[in-house]
This record gives sequence, C-alpha cells and structure tokens, in this order.
Amino acid sequence: MAIQKVMVIGAGQMGAGIAQVCAQAGFDVLVNDRNEDDLDKGMKNIDKILTRAVEKERITAQSKSDTLNRLTPSSQLKDAESCDLVIEAVVENMDVKRKVFGELDEVAPKHAILASNTSSLPITEIAAATKRADQVIGMHFMNPVPVMKLVEIIRGLQTSDETYGAIETMTTHLSKTPVEVEDFPGFVSNRILMPMINEAIFTLHEGVASREDIDTVMKLGTNHPMGPLTLADFIGLDTCLYIMEVLHDGFGDSKYRPCPLLRNYVKAGWLGKKSGRGFYLYD
Ligand code: CAA
Ligand code: NAD
Repeated sequence: MAIQKVMVIGAGQMGAGIAQVCAQAGFDVLVNDRNEDDLDKGMKNIDKILTRAVEKERITAQSKSDTLNRLTPSSQLKDAESCDLVIEAVVENMDVKRKVFGELDEVAPKHAILASNTSSLPITEIAAATKRADQVIGMHFMNPVPVMKLVEIIRGLQTSDETYGAIETMTTHLSKTPVEVEDFPGFVSNRILMPMINEAIFTLHEGVASREDIDTVMKLGTNHPMGPLTLADFIGLDTCLYIMEVLHDGFGDSKYRPCPLLRNYVKAGWLGKKSGRGFYLYD
C-alpha cells in the first residue's frame, strides 16, 4: 500500500525536521510528543525554519502555508491508527523505544510500517517489541534534517524486502539519498563519526588544546564544516553519550569507552545547544 499519512513521534530537533521534510514532500503528517511544551516548541521551530526559507526566497509563502497545513500536532499515540508509516524520533534509549514500539503495535493499522530514527540501537531488538518485526526498519536521518541529504536505512534481522523497498522509495521521494546498512552498533555514520567526537573530548580533557583550537584544527585542517566539539553540542551531548555506550556495549572494545568529561557534562545537564550550555554557551 502506498504511504500517504505519516506520524512522527518526538518533536525534538530530529522529529521536527523529519516532520517538516515529509510535509514539504506532500505527505500528511501527525507530529506527536508526550510533552505539550516540546510539541509546541517543535511546531514553532518548523514555522521558524520555513519562514527563514521564504525570506531567503528558497520557497514561496504559498509553499510554506501548504506545508504547515499538512502538519497536525498530536498528543496521543492512538492517533497512529490513521497512519501508513510511523517514524519514531524519541530519546536514544532502548527501554523507551521498545515501550513506544510495543504501544504503537497495538494501535497502528496492520499494514503500517514502523520506522526508528535511532542513531545506533539495534533495529532487531526494537522490532522484537512488536508482532510485526518484518515491518520494522531503521530510517536514520542526519541533523539538520532539511539540509542533510543522507538517510541510512537499516534492516533488522526480520525486516522484509517489501518494507525495505517502501522506505527506500519514500526516502527518494523526500529528495534524500538512501544507503542500505546492516544492523551493527552505530551503523556506518556513528561508528565512524562518534569515536572522532569522543576523541576530541579526550583531547580537551587531557589539556592538549583549548576547545576553540581543537575545533579550529578540524575545521581548517580537515575541512569539516563544524569542529567536533561544536558538532557534539549541535547533536546533543546526551545523544553522543548514549551512542558511545551502545558502541562500547555492542562491540565490547575499550576503544569505544566514553570520555569521563562527556559523562560529567551530561550529569550536569549540559546537553549542548538544546540546553543552552555544552562545550560552548548558547543564548
Ligand atoms: N535546520 C534547517 N536548516 C538549517 C539549519 C537547521 N537547524 N541550520 C542551517 N540550516 C540551513 C540554513 O538555512 C542554510 O540554508 P540556505 O542555504 O537555504 O540559506 C544552510 O543550512 C546553511 O546554513 P548557514 O549558512 O547558516 O550555516 P553553515 O553554512 O555553517 O551550515 C550546517 C550549517 C549545514 C549545519 C553545517 O555547519 C554542517 O553541515 N555542519 C555539520 C552537520 C553534520 O555533520 N551533521 C551530521 C551530524 S551526525 C548525525 O546527524 C547523526 C547522528 O545520529 C548523531
Ligand atoms: P531531542 O531530545 O531533541 O528530542 C526528543 C523528543 O522526544 C523530545 O521532544 C521528547 O519530549 C520526546 N519524547 C521522549 N519520549 C517520548 C515518548 N515516549 N513519546 C513521545 N515523545 C517522546 O532528541 P533528538 O536529538 O531529536 O533525537 C531523537 C532521536 O534521533 C534519538 O534516537 C537520536 O539518537 C536520533 N538522532 C539524533 C541526531 C542528532 O543529531 N541529534 C541525529 C540523528 C538521529
């Protein structure tokens, strides 16, 4: 069955971006969050990004209003009963994701595909929380979603070819490039990116250079658009720590141990840009 209506669960930085690109591609989208303030913030963020795109003459005012009209806020998972595809983008925690998928399995129509935007967690284990493991898949967007062209598509052990094909087609429809990846910790993107970020944090922790100089070395020396500490703040330090823990547990190799400084910052609630403080301060 063709995908027409989508629910995105979690209206944080990733969920809002995913909802926006789905609506811009013509899908009807329900934006769900368990927290009303976060839902409101997510909807406002989409409006802000679209307004900026109109100001820069990237899109017309009509296209902005059409996109907003396709987006409907939702505070109940039960609203998934009208959807063909659900994309989950809640916190990077297996227990939380399995609970969401278990509940979704009860309310989503039988034909619906359940996708996770997880950065690193095993799709096979998330799928096992449902009775439709063949219709569960990883659909890993990159941040910021409206800008980044890649979607890693991760097959769990039981993901069917039909489910894979539908998500590959959907990804292309969103003007993104799909890459097929097997279900290994961190997939490809975060298995390579996150140890680099973690190493940058060790470099700071050991006093090798200042935060600004570490970022400058990687920006000017290796042409990265953002230095690794700025990028960590941008991703969210809680998410970075979760991903390092998944790599560490999943491979059992000490080279993936999270830097103690990263742990301390997360304990302090310094989660990066989204909380106003990480390696840098934000307004
Ligand atoms: N949402 C939507 N659009 C955004 C945006 C956001 N948060 N931030 C920037 N943009 C848009 C701007 O509107 C601008 O669009 P136009 O070209 O249409 O005007 C464009 O992006 C460029 O923005 P800026 O000129 O303001 O800034 P920039 O040139 O420094 O680019 C950036 C910003 C695209 C974020 C760039 O710094 C970059 O590519 N950074 C690295 C991002 C990255 O590595 N992402 C992957 C993170 S890892 C991940 O996502 C996986 C995971 O699981 C953790
Ligand atoms: P975030 O903290 O910005 O947003 C998470 C949102 O989920 C919050 O609004 C929260 O209220 C909501 N939420 C939590 N539990 C919920 C539930 N049970 N039901 C409904 N809503 C719930 O996080 P984020 O950065 O958007 O990350 C979300 C997911 O995307 C994570 O799995 C993360 O690993 C992944 N991801 C993140 C990035 C990144 O750069 N931040 C990139 C790719 C993938």
